[in-house]
Amino acid sequence: MFAKRHSFRGDENLSYSIPKMDIICSIVDFLIENNCLQVIEIGAGTGLWASLIQIVLERRSNINFIATDKFAVGKGLYGYKYTYTKVENMDALNAIKKYKNSNCLFLCWPPWQDMVEEGQYSAGKVLKIFEGDYLISIGENARGYSTGDDLFYDELEKNWDHLEDNDIDMFIKGGIFTIYDSVYFYKRKPKVKPKEDEMRDTFLRSKGRIIASMHNFQEEYTVRGSAHFIPVRRDFDKGLITGFRPRATGF
Ligand SMILES: C[S@@+](CC[C@H](N)C(=O)[O-])C[C@H]1O[C@@H](n2cnc3c(N)ncnc32)[C@H](O)[C@@H]1O
Repeated sequence: MFAKRHSFRGDENLSYSIPKMDIICSIVDFLIENNCLQVIEIGAGTGLWASLIQIVLERRSNINFIATDKFAVGKGLYGYKYTYTKVENMDALNAIKKYKNSNCLFLCWPPWQDMVEEGQYSAGKVLKIFEGDYLISIGENARGYSTGDDLFYDELEKNWDHLEDNDIDMFIKGGIFTIYDSVYFYKRKPKVKPKEDEMRDTFLRSKGRIIASMHNFQEEYTVRGSAHFIPVRRDFDKGLITGFRPRATGF
């Protein structure tokens, strides 16, 4: 566990990232606190991280942690000799679809832009179709560095809030070749309702009594009062609702 990362990856191909107990526990705490009942890992490699997380999880919860990778033992680029836990042999996008009920996605050293261009999975594409609310990602987590493709960082900026991160032992220390490593925790940003829906809801809630504070919007609407239909013209750019015709509804 405490080996330098180059020997850690070396012949044994243990992992791109060096797991330590405090980091494993911080991941397990996060999963439990956020009630993440099913976690899907993409590109799990030997499954070393998954196996350690599963050991702690088994003692503390009933959370199901599933590890997947397209290039299983003996196949593909990485030539893994064995895995430390069950790693399902499947492509990233198929894994997300198969385990679509997962509420947390786990990525450890997702392929960087060049690797994606050479055919490895795109963490950005994975994140785009993932439907859960939590993401744990290990790596350098900065555009243009050793982990994650450009689309991944676009998605993170657009749809995810960074909650916290914890340092992991560095891969290579010194000079321009220093590779930093951390575990990053994210939560999906709250979904913003389309502007149209928001305006309609605000208006219906008010049943015509409010002065709406929206701008640049004029439209004819027919809004249902308690028993009648009331034609209404909304001039939001003026901050007014005009053409309001009260009927016998007590409006
Ligand atoms: C940089 S390695 C990281 C492996 C492991 N997470 C670790 O930290 O040691 C990227 C992993 O993604 C896997 N991978 C590449 N393309 C994939 C795809 N299309 N679907 C699923 N896994 C893929 C590779 O087999 C490899 O194990």
